[in-house]
Amino acid sequence: MKKLMAANWKMYKTADEARQTADALVKAVGTLPGDREVLIFPPFTALHAAHDALGQAAGFHMGGQDVYPAEEGAFTGEIAPGMLKAAGCGWVLTGHSERRHVLGETDALVGSKTAFSLAAGLSVCLCIGEKLDEREAGALTTVIHRQLETGLADVPADVDPGRLAIAYEPVWAIGTGKVAGPAEILEAHAIVRAKLCAMFPSAGTDMPILYGGSVKPDNAAEIVGLDNVDGVLVGGASLQADSFSRIVLA
Ligand code: 13P
Repeated sequence: MKKLMAANWKMYKTADEARQTADALVKAVGTLPGDREVLIFPPFTALHAAHDALGQAAGFHMGGQDVYPAEEGAFTGEIAPGMLKAAGCGWVLTGHSERRHVLGETDALVGSKTAFSLAAGLSVCLCIGEKLDEREAGALTTVIHRQLETGLADVPADVDPGRLAIAYEPVWAIGTGKVAGPAEILEAHAIVRAKLCAMFPSAGTDMPILYGGSVKPDNAAEIVGLDNVDGVLVGGASLQADSFSRIVLA
């Protein structure tokens, strides 16, 4: 399985800044190794500019950071899957912890976004992860199971595993500089893998599971080398072409 090296730019970068970063990234990475793919998630207003800059670079793909589960309609401020596709996106993130915990998205809404986007032809990266108080209360498995059960409730059993990735991002490791240690990542990813295999007996083994939370150039190689880690989803360290290119090539 190729490693998916993903950049979530969150609410950073104007269109011009995104164009410059994407352009610099393609140059800094050069020819992408055959076992890697790059995924960039710019903010909506920078999608066209980033897409222009990525051009035809082999192995580079783009996605939206969020989506609304309807084709079109009176949903002020929202973006439909078809709009993302027309802007050059092949992917979308659903259920990022900032959407869940800052914007108040429910598990059910995340599930509906995931299934609708897949049916609309986008590939989806569903983000899950426990908060610190949940981990300390011993609820790691319960939280992962609940977020996968509700997040994937309406995904068909014969889903193409290449079009559905899970990003395990412990909330306490996001933007804090506190990366989960190898043992914690191995434990959580094994729980995710077992649940995926139980829910999707044929596709579950082949769905990529990414790790996210304070991934940096100096810890990326160790993380992507762990069992059941099929890539990374990077926030802060993906904003500069120099540091993200070092992660991509780690
Ligand atoms: P950081 O890499 O800044 O911790 O963010 C992780 C993240 O939320 C990626 O989606």
